Amino acid sequence: MSLSTRHLLGIKDLTVDDISLILTTAEQFKEVLQRPVKKVPSLRDVTIVNLFYENSTRTRFSFELAEKRLSADTINFAVSGSSAAKGETLLDTVRNILSMKVDMVVMRHSASGAPHFLAKHIPAAIINAGDGVNEHPTQGLLDAFSMKEKLGKLEGLKVALIGDIMHSRVAMSNIYLLNKMGAKVTVCGPPTLIPKYIRESFGVEVNYDIKETLEWCDVANVLRIQLERQNQVLFSSLREYNIAYGVKRKLLDNLNKEIVVMHPGPINRGVELDSDVADSKQSIILQQVENGVAVRMAVLYLLSGRNPANN
Ligand code: CP
Repeated sequence: MSLSTRHLLGIKDLTVDDISLILTTAEQFKEVLQRPVKKVPSLRDVTIVNLFYENSTRTRFSFELAEKRLSADTINFAVSGSSAAKGETLLDTVRNILSMKVDMVVMRHSASGAPHFLAKHIPAAIINAGDGVNEHPTQGLLDAFSMKEKLGKLEGLKVALIGDIMHSRVAMSNIYLLNKMGAKVTVCGPPTLIPKYIRESFGVEVNYDIKETLEWCDVANVLRIQLERQNQVLFSSLREYNIAYGVKRKLLDNLNKEIVVMHPGPINRGVELDSDVADSKQSIILQQVENGVAVRMAVLYLLSGRNPANN
C-alpha cells in the first residue's frame, strides 16, 4: 500500500486509508525502536533537510532522530546563522539546498501555507512540521497513535481539545484526523479563544464549561496558550485563565472516571495545565513524544519513494 499524496502538507488532504497506513507503519517502527539496535537501512542514501524557520524542541529532534534511525543523511537549517537572516527568500534558500542533491524537505514556518507554496515550486517531497495557525500534521498523527495505543481505538472515542483553539495548528490537525477516523470532538475554552463558526465549519461540538467537558470526554488534549500569536488581549490574565480553564487535580478527582490527559508541549505549567496533572499517571505526554519518532519514521518512509509499493 502507498499514500495517496506526494507530500504531507496537512491531515486535511489525507484519506482514511492514508491515516490507517501511517499508523500501522508507525506500529512497526515502534517495534524497531524497542530493539537494542534501533536502526534500519530503509532510507540509506536519502538526504533530508530539516528547515526550521520557527523554534522547536520536540518536532525538530523527533524528525532528526527518525531520519537517523532510518539511516538517512540529514542537514539542519535554522534562520539564525543562515543567509535567510540576510534576507534570502524561502524559495531561493530551498532551491539552493536542493541543488546539493537533497531529496526531502521537512519544514516548520510561522506563515500558514508556506509548505503548500513550496510544494508548487520544488520537486522534492515536503513534510509540514507546523505552519502558522494552519496545521501540524505529524502532531495530529502522533496524538492519534498515542490515543489508539492507550485506549485501543479511535472510532467512537470522545476527545476534548481544551485551551487556545483559535491559534492552534495542533487543534486543526486533531480535528481533521479525529473526524475522519470516527472519533467525537468537543472544543472547550473561553469564547475569545474559540473560532466563531467552528461547529458549522468543522463538525465539532463547543462547550465553554470545563467541568462538563471533562465529565464528557475519554481524552483531554490540553493545548498551549499561544501568547506569541495573540495580537490583542483575549483573556484577563494567565492566573484567571488558570482558575477558569486550567486542567487541575481537583477537577479530575471529582470525575467518576479516569480520563487520559495529553498535551503537545511545550506546557505552560500552572496556566493551561497544572504540574500535579502533567506529571501524574493519567498523563501520557512523554509517551506522545516517544511515539512521535515512530510516527515520523513512518511518514518519511512512506513519502520517500523507498516503499516498494511506490515503485
Ligand atoms: N509539539 C511541538 O510542536 O513542540 P515543539 O514546538 O517543541 O516542536
